[in-house]
Amino acid sequence: MSTLSVWGELVACHTASEIADVAAKRIAAAIEAKLRTQPLVSIALSGGTTPRETYARLALAKHVDWSKVLFFWVDERAVSPSDARSNYHMVDEAMLQKLPVNRNQVARMQADLTDLKSAAASYESLLRARVMLGPKNVPQLDILTLGVGADGHTASLFPRDAALQEQKALVTAVAPAAGREARLTLTFPMLLNASNVFVLASGLEKNKALERAWAAHGDDGETPLRALRNAIGATTWIIDRAAGGLLK
Ligand code: 6PG
Repeated sequence: MSTLSVWGELVACHTASEIADVAAKRIAAAIEAKLRTQPLVSIALSGGTTPRETYARLALAKHVDWSKVLFFWVDERAVSPSDARSNYHMVDEAMLQKLPVNRNQVARMQADLTDLKSAAASYESLLRARVMLGPKNVPQLDILTLGVGADGHTASLFPRDAALQEQKALVTAVAPAAGREARLTLTFPMLLNASNVFVLASGLEKNKALERAWAAHGDDGETPLRALRNAIGATTWIIDRAAGGLLK
């Protein structure tokens, strides 16, 4: 194994359930910390299977003033919001339906629209209207959750995809591929500008992607997760030992 240089904080959990516990506690604490100095908090959520349990735990965090949280998505699949594959559907079922939030706090990514380019531009306008600007005149999300694909993708930024090169648009459409719907995704200019990034990963199938991401040298085009080393905010890796390869 080449030298690994993990940036940010690494929290090694024993089980997926512990990841959910730790992640929910850390995200709730980050929300409360932000609310001590600003009126609203913006959080962008990833989909997939790993974060679902974390969102379910957050739904139980009654001490958080959820009326001051604005919900966004990191990415979305080009399916109906009622489709089980929809990231909106997963977050809504796991968390939002159980929280005292108004629908105007929830900004769904409309990847179900036919014109994804226009949907991406609309979501970018919405982000610019609702999220405080940070460095480089880019809206600065307070909190992000990200996952790790076994191929080293994060959000819907896949290896060798043109979206990896996007440096201007904050949201972009991603073409469908074999076994994968078209997507909308935040781009790296948006992801790297967030104040707090929580990366959740569970299972041995994520280990190689994490090691390629953490390797001192590597190819960001092959492992898009590597680009997170340029994040300007705090990165916290909440992973189990299987994903982290610490069981080796
Ligand atoms: C998505 C996610 C994606 C996910 C990874 C890991 O829409 O699928 O945003 O980036 O985080 O694919 O997914 P799992 O948590 O299901 O392994």
